[in-house]
Amino acid sequence: MPARSRTPSGRGPGSSPGVTLDAFTDRYAARTHGMTASEIRALFAVASRPEVVSLAGGMPNLSALPLDVVGKLVGQLVEGRGTTALQYGSGQGDPVLRELICEVMALEGVEGSPDDVVVTVGSQQALDLVTRIFVDPGDVVLAEAPSYVGALGTFAAYQADVVHVPMDADGLVPEALREAIAAVAASGRRAKFLYTIPNFHNPAGVSLAESRRDEVLAICREAGLLVLEDNPYGLLGFDGPPTRAIRARGAEDDVIYLGSFSKTFAPGLRTGWVLAPHAVREKLVLAAEAAVLCPPAFNQMVITEYLQHHDWQGQVASFRDLYRERRDAMLDALTQLMPPGTTWTHPTGGFYVWLTLPEGLDSKVMQPRALTERIAYVPGVGFYADGQGGRELRLSYCFPDPDRIREGVRRLAGVVEQELDLLETFGPTARLHPEGRTLTETPAPDMA
Ligand SMILES: Cc1ncc(COP(=O)(O)O)c(C=O)c1O
Repeated sequence: MPARSRTPSGRGPGSSPGVTLDAFTDRYAARTHGMTASEIRALFAVASRPEVVSLAGGMPNLSALPLDVVGKLVGQLVEGRGTTALQYGSGQGDPVLRELICEVMALEGVEGSPDDVVVTVGSQQALDLVTRIFVDPGDVVLAEAPSYVGALGTFAAYQADVVHVPMDADGLVPEALREAIAAVAASGRRAKFLYTIPNFHNPAGVSLAESRRDEVLAICREAGLLVLEDNPYGLLGFDGPPTRAIRARGAEDDVIYLGSFSKTFAPGLRTGWVLAPHAVREKLVLAAEAAVLCPPAFNQMVITEYLQHHDWQGQVASFRDLYRERRDAMLDALTQLMPPGTTWTHPTGGFYVWLTLPEGLDSKVMQPRALTERIAYVPGVGFYADGQGGRELRLSYCFPDPDRIREGVRRLAGVVEQELDLLETFGPTARLHPEGRTLTETPAPDMA
């Protein structure tokens, strides 16, 4: 339908005040139809209010960063090498940083050549570039159920068809992966890659067991499926040394590996990377140049200086301590306060706990009541491409201090109890609106 003419404010002559219609609707590319605000972004404004305990966002806790050290090296960089640092750089990324990235990856057993590393604007851009070079509209991408909301957004933007693969407490279930691959093949299609977050999963808070890693790789190899291994949290494990990456298992031709400095240093520097098979690396550099010409030289040099002249591994160890304390606070509070029927995962690293509500409750329906009670979480439905997740929600423990976390869980437990009371009173299909004025039907999962 052609767009009607609009006033300069974007409003049609007959439209009601305050309603801004989009005058460009009939001109957008088809790929924009899959682009929607994520559940997390939608929550951001309300969750940032000081009276709300936000267990919603996944922002790294930078309170432990040595800002004096970073400030000093930034100043020295600009004064001493500003004409290089503030100049355009290589499309593939700074060669010195790429060497250091190989040393970082070696901590998780990954042996890669700096030649096969592409520096990106966060690992989010790496997700975009990989999808851009592999996925045509309608292609299948396999992803864990649930999966990282930013990756789902990218897959939607490239019109991929996401098929979810179930997980359990040990991560992706190999048998379910086999079944998903077979089901896709039976429909006459082939998946382009398996997108997986093996360590301290966002949002599920589980990790792929060591004993499953070779098997997952073997299944993908047999099916001719690339593995897109996204590992921003791998160094943030609470219980000992990291588990060897999938890429570290002789898989240089089968795995595209993504890393990031967002969780181990600072997300504001927007620097991540891809380690890819050589031929793929060539295509990625072309795609990256078309997108951004080159990643920011300045940010890369800040990171290079930081890695070379600061005890960055000691810093990561203090991040681990900080997050472990918060994880403990959340798990203890959940154990003490949550009503029976509620279950949750037990992360051994990273930022997230994945919670399943008692039967009959819906995290999206419950959200207005939770916000009224000043507690924010992310409803589970946003972490699936197919409308699952109605009973589930994500809690982050990375940012608030332990007392706030305990208070947040206390509020959440109260909200769940109120919802259970209503369920008992009105039955499974009716739920009292938090304001107490209207009764709303519990939406089917695919409408939530
Ligand atoms: C699993 C996963 N992948 C990728 C990203 C993107 O990270 P960045 O672009 O900051 O490197 C995130 C951020 O939260 C994440 O959780």
